[in-house]
Amino acid sequence: MSETSTQLYPPPAEMARTAHVPGFAAYQALVQEADADHQAFWGRLARDVLTWRTPFTQVLDESNAPFYRWFEGGTLNASHNCLDVNVERGLGDKTALIFEADDGTITRESYRQLLARVCRTANALRAMGVQKGDRVVIYMAMSIEGVATMQACARIGAIHSVVFGGFSAQALRDRIADTGASLVITADEQVRGGKRLPLKAIVDDALALGGCEAVRQVLMYTRTGGQVPFVPGRDVKMSELLPEQADTCEPEWVDAEHPLFLLYTSGSTGAPKGVQHSTGGYLLHAALTTRWTFDLRPEDVFWCTADIGWVTGHTYITYGPLALGATQVVFEGVPTYPDASRFWQMIHKHQVSIFYTAPTAIRSLIKACEAAPAQHPRHFDLSSLRILGSVGEPINPAAWTWYHEHVGGGRCPIVDTFWQTETGGHMITPLPGATPLVPGSCTLPFPGIAATIVDETGNELPWGQGGMLVVKRPWPSMIRTIWGNPERFKKSYFPEELGGTIYLAGDGAVRDEQTGYFTITGRIDDVLNVSGHRMGTMEIESALVAHTELVAEAAVVGRPDDTTGEAICAFVVLKRARPTGEEAQRIAKELRDWVAKEIGPIAKPKDIRFGDNLPKTRSGKIMRRLLRSVAAGQAITQDTSTLENPQILTQLAEVN
Ligand code: PRX
Repeated sequence: MSETSTQLYPPPAEMARTAHVPGFAAYQALVQEADADHQAFWGRLARDVLTWRTPFTQVLDESNAPFYRWFEGGTLNASHNCLDVNVERGLGDKTALIFEADDGTITRESYRQLLARVCRTANALRAMGVQKGDRVVIYMAMSIEGVATMQACARIGAIHSVVFGGFSAQALRDRIADTGASLVITADEQVRGGKRLPLKAIVDDALALGGCEAVRQVLMYTRTGGQVPFVPGRDVKMSELLPEQADTCEPEWVDAEHPLFLLYTSGSTGAPKGVQHSTGGYLLHAALTTRWTFDLRPEDVFWCTADIGWVTGHTYITYGPLALGATQVVFEGVPTYPDASRFWQMIHKHQVSIFYTAPTAIRSLIKACEAAPAQHPRHFDLSSLRILGSVGEPINPAAWTWYHEHVGGGRCPIVDTFWQTETGGHMITPLPGATPLVPGSCTLPFPGIAATIVDETGNELPWGQGGMLVVKRPWPSMIRTIWGNPERFKKSYFPEELGGTIYLAGDGAVRDEQTGYFTITGRIDDVLNVSGHRMGTMEIESALVAHTELVAEAAVVGRPDDTTGEAICAFVVLKRARPTGEEAQRIAKELRDWVAKEIGPIAKPKDIRFGDNLPKTRSGKIMRRLLRSVAAGQAITQDTSTLENPQILTQLAEVN
């Protein structure tokens, strides 16, 4: 552990007095309330935070665990909670979204305007035949329309599944096919870093790959007006359909357990899984964590830099802040365009008070601002900031300290929020008015979240001993199932070895011996975290071996990387002789481009090493442990006596 990681940063005195959770004793009181009566705790909050059409009659039904059901009997609508309720509260003229385009153009939309837009979109979806329970795939970039489209699906009870705009046609096809979607919503193009990138053309390619026959229509938002192919009878322009629609729309009142969305994420084996979230429980935790973790106040300007293609963009853009009537910034572009001061300029321009980003963005900005000192945050007035957040991967103490000092001016607490696509919202996180901070630690569980650390047999471990992170009690925003694969849901998250009802996060963790603070030590399965993006090694291996002309065998592992956290390293055996020199570089490039085509640019391996073979045991099993050491450039200290071909390690250590 580095030196800085032992320093304690107490909450600012003013925040400890006035925050939603004011001081550590207030945090402890909430934890005790939840421990004393878990159901009463969540029931109280569900009544306080959400607006129900019909009240629930039971908080938690555990009769079919691990298929937990929350807020039985209750009906509500997520879009009604996020929009109508705020307009009714008198926030109609308050700015809901401040959209800043890649080129700096700013568009503001009030709650009343956003409600009207969502209603028109919802009416358009109904006019296209979309009904409650139908799946709608959204393949769009950051935009007011993207957020409104998600909300419109929620309004009519359709289940959205947003696919990140960086995924390839093949990856998009797989997701459309798995959901059985009847409609795809996209844009003509997206604009990032001064470049136009295709979206609609990729949708066309995805549909042409086959397996998406349920798709009857494609709805397209015109972002750039660029030339894109148009299929008459199938494709519809938003600009033509929306103006015809009424700007009121009766919400579809759904059961609390009605699926709100599916979001695909990577596991250690098999194809990406469609994580299914509910309406009531999910929305409760989205709103509650936004309120407590970010101490959201009516006058705040909230900015979460995530993309709506990831869970962070769902919970902390589309649902949490809107459910609380917040004003938020939505940004189309990238942090380094036109230069690395973009974030600082935007924070100042929009008077952002709560800023939530990923460690990988911070690390790349540290580098860029060191290279171009005029872009350093110290040259910008960031005095509007009061709270900073971090998400997606561990934040190393050096990046934490830079963020705290240079962005937060030494006065803003950093909430290092640990959570996952499956958890729906924050699980382990400081609360800014309550929790003393330690750089590199996500500190303590959110009230009501029974996180702990166990060994392989499910025995709880004492503080100081590393093990597997689990959650002992269900919580409202937990994953409900894997779409179409309940067996995989049970096996992945509620393994029999742990008793079948305890949630296994898939991360390793350790608690500090004195404070009990959690530090996440990284995934315990074959899932990588590259720039905060989650990827399965198996997915990348499958993409590589799908190049049947070139590749005989491939193994993918992660290695530490200063900027991206982890980097992808692929070990490849070709169907031809092992290449060297320029030929090796040429083939490596071809394979990188191939993976970008199969999955998306985010899955491109940083290193590709060629070998005559892979290190295998005598029974033919690839020894990934050894490959991880080779990839990290470490000396092999592990026992290699079971290895069939130990000399292969020297060959694989050679970098092209
Ligand atoms: O390994 C943990 C890491 O990201 C994984 C979840 O990835 P995903 O489902 O894509 O969701 C990312 C956004 C919530 C976790 O299993 N992770 C996430 N947040 C943190 C983290 N690791 C350490 N510290 C965090 N704050």
